[in-house]
Amino acid sequence: MARIKPQTLLLQSKKKKGPTRISVTTILMCNLVVVLIVLSLVSTYRHWSQRSRNQAENESSMTEDIDAFIDPKKFDLPGYAIINTSKGLITVELYKEGSPETVDKFLDFCQKGHFKGMHFHHVIKNYVIQGGDFQRLGAAEDWTLKGKPHNQLAISPKHEAFMIGTSKAKHDNKGFDLFITTAPIPDLNDKLIVFGRVIKGEDVVQEIEEVDTDEHYQPKSPIGIINVTLKHEI
Ligand SMILES: *[C@@H]1O[C@H](CO)[C@@H](O)[C@H](O)[C@H]1NC(C)=O
Ligand SMILES: *[C@@H]1O[C@H](CO)[C@@H](O)[C@H](O)[C@H]1NC(C)=O
Ligand SMILES: *[C@@H]1O[C@H](CO)[C@@H](O)[C@H](O)[C@H]1NC(C)=O
Repeated sequence: MARIKPQTLLLQSKKKKGPTRISVTTILMCNLVVVLIVLSLVSTYRHWSQRSRNQAENESSMTEDIDAFIDPKKFDLPGYAIINTSKGLITVELYKEGSPETVDKFLDFCQKGHFKGMHFHHVIKNYVIQGGDFQRLGAAEDWTLKGKPHNQLAISPKHEAFMIGTSKAKHDNKGFDLFITTAPIPDLNDKLIVFGRVIKGEDVVQEIEEVDTDEHYQPKSPIGIINVTLKHEI
């Protein structure tokens, strides 16, 4: 190894230190970098402290989590419901945009398991099948019990068969009845709040429609809903 003379070293270090004049822009750049670093440190700190605060909040109140789960504004709502009946599955597309309030209510009742074991207590061939709490029949039953219209007039596409709706009777958050039409009903919107339509399992609806009923349109052997499963996609 060749020795480097101290003088040469001195020269070299002097050379390196050479340009001692630091321009104003360099100073500004350095300051800017420092400011940026400080800012990012502050925001990182804020982020972490916020996060730990949130975590503490979330852990302290589980009920809020449940509320958020049900609260439709916070989460994307399921758009489909699969109704498992004793005759098979009926898949329903929910009109989230068209009837958001009714869909909200329906989803709420599904999540509470309201429809488990519910019976279709009125089956009117070529008209409608109705499920609900039998004890709580309100004004809604009048139009079904009057029976189907003999002559059906102008039919708009909105009033096709296999629409799902609930009665317009005032709801008190305790009950929710279901109607599935099996024929086009011209004045359906006067009678029901339509909030979806059957997209799969029309044959199951028809099978329910075919059961033997008594003179009050009540099925002779009960047809029930086993449960309702909500889906975002199908
Ligand atoms: C805690 O809940 C809030 C809303 O209340 C939410 O924004 C946040 O992401 C949650 N944090 C954690 C860690 O779950
Ligand atoms: C529907 O109910 C039947 C009878 O309980 C069950 O065997 C079946 O797994 C259910 N299907 C769905 C998709 O929930
Ligand atoms: C519905 O019932 C089926 C079979 O009994 C079960 O596998 C499924 O998890 C139930 N779904 C809901 C949402 O309760």
